[in-house]
Amino acid sequence: MRLVNIIDNNHEHTEYLKYTGSFKREKKLTLIFKRTNYKKLLVLIQKKIIYVFIEKEKSRRYPQDIPGPRALPIFGTRWIYSSWFGFYNLNKIHEAYKDLFFRYGNIVKEETLWNIPVINIMDRDSIEKVLKQSGKYPFRPPNEVTAHYRQSRPDRYTNLGLVNEQGETWHVLRTALTPELTSNKTLKEFLPELMMVTDDFIRLIDMSRNADNVVVNFEQLCNRLGLESTCTLILGKRFNFLHESYIDPLGQALADAISGQFCASRDTFYGLPIWKVFFTAAYKKFIQYEDTIYDIISVLVENAIQEETDMCPVDNVHRVFRSILMAPTLDKRDKKAAIIDFIAAGIKTLGNTLVFVLYLIAKHPHIQNKIYEEIENITSVSGPITMDSLRGAVYLRACMMEAFRLLPTAPCVARILEHKTELNGFTLPPGSVILCHTWLACLNKINFENANQFLPERWLNDTPCKSSFLVIPFGYGRRMCPGKRFVELELQVVLAQILQNFEIDFVGELQLEFEFLLAPAPSTNFIFKNRL
Ligand code: HEM
Repeated sequence: MRLVNIIDNNHEHTEYLKYTGSFKREKKLTLIFKRTNYKKLLVLIQKKIIYVFIEKEKSRRYPQDIPGPRALPIFGTRWIYSSWFGFYNLNKIHEAYKDLFFRYGNIVKEETLWNIPVINIMDRDSIEKVLKQSGKYPFRPPNEVTAHYRQSRPDRYTNLGLVNEQGETWHVLRTALTPELTSNKTLKEFLPELMMVTDDFIRLIDMSRNADNVVVNFEQLCNRLGLESTCTLILGKRFNFLHESYIDPLGQALADAISGQFCASRDTFYGLPIWKVFFTAAYKKFIQYEDTIYDIISVLVENAIQEETDMCPVDNVHRVFRSILMAPTLDKRDKKAAIIDFIAAGIKTLGNTLVFVLYLIAKHPHIQNKIYEEIENITSVSGPITMDSLRGAVYLRACMMEAFRLLPTAPCVARILEHKTELNGFTLPPGSVILCHTWLACLNKINFENANQFLPERWLNDTPCKSSFLVIPFGYGRRMCPGKRFVELELQVVLAQILQNFEIDFVGELQLEFEFLLAPAPSTNFIFKNRL
């Protein structure tokens, strides 16, 4: 009755209803209300509310409804990568994802052991939503096998390390370990050392050429560069990994162990996850590589600590190393683990990235010439490369950006959702594991025109397109790679110096492999002709 009164007494409202033509309908309703048993009406309203709620629930889609390969009880969907009865090859998981998205659409569910869902997404808006929602401590799922192993070795590790830790512990590590590594001052002071490392690399290329100017297995040289430069940056001293006639066995063993460890991580992640119950071959390999890396880097660290104490060197190359050694909040085990994580994170990533960028430049001679001219202009005006002169290398940086888009070493960025989130119409609870496939999104013509072509010019535009957000080879936000600035500097210096010395070409076509990272399949054979 109150409702009727409100309607009848509210003159303005009545006028409005008249005006909109709804007045007659409202009048009719009022009469119905007057005649109706009020209790019956309430029951009707309740029924209506329940009906609307059920319909809404029916239209809402839950994680279990996300399309994807058929999951087996307990084992989930990992069987699709099985060498016995699966569809996909572990070396080609990047192709498997392409196929999965093609079959199931922009959102695909996989399931790990105990049917824990992993949600794969590749559309721009969803990726942006996931990466931008992170709070103070963004959560990235740890590499389970590393976490499992490190927890079993309290003699060596007090926590899972910067790459795999979460929450407050991650924040403590990040704050204690990375400011020096990411600072502009460190990089500026490191540049002369980096130029010397690059000179050695150029000499190594020169000496490794056969009679046809071909360097066979060039990727191995790139990994040695990654090792030498990362170790120099982190440990503050030069090693001998770029010697032309002598391959340092320690360096080679470390590079092999890091490569092996990435592959073993992939095999444990994508293979049937029984390594948690039994010591499978993949898990045994993982332990063997992890121990080799630990032992080799331990020796390097102990020696570097000894030299630091004996000589008290004051040059700036030691900046990062000293900042790690002196971090007041950390245990010696944490410092060693941090150095291991930095070096392991730097070698293959840098090596692969250099192969990818050089490959794209080698296959596009007109672009190569443009970079060469740019570098010649810069160095003829200002002499050897400096931080300031590199600012003028605009085209070179556009080429790097375009290479990151077409061939990134890290093809996806992983996160754990912090809030309930709707993705592609599905409501996902906090705690869901999401793989954002930025690489596949970058190759989609919806996001980039002529998406499969190497067109550095697209990055010279003052107003970058909306999809440029997808080119994030170093990840996003607070968990972004702390090596980013160092790598970007090193790539510019190395590419500039290579192109100043050589005209490059590539024999055949590059093949890709998935080693947890995207990697060039061996062997990559580059041609380095002296510039006249
Ligand atoms: C081309 C070379 C490299 C690439 C493509 C690369 C890529 C990445 C990516 C994609 C992430 C994850 C970021 C995220 O989740 O948002 C990451 C994390 C990390 N990277 Fe790199 N990286 C490279 C080189 C390096 C180097 C040289 C170092 C060390 C000096 C390094 C140390 C780390 C560390 C410690 C993390 C974990 C950071 C954290 O969780 O807080 N990376 N990197």
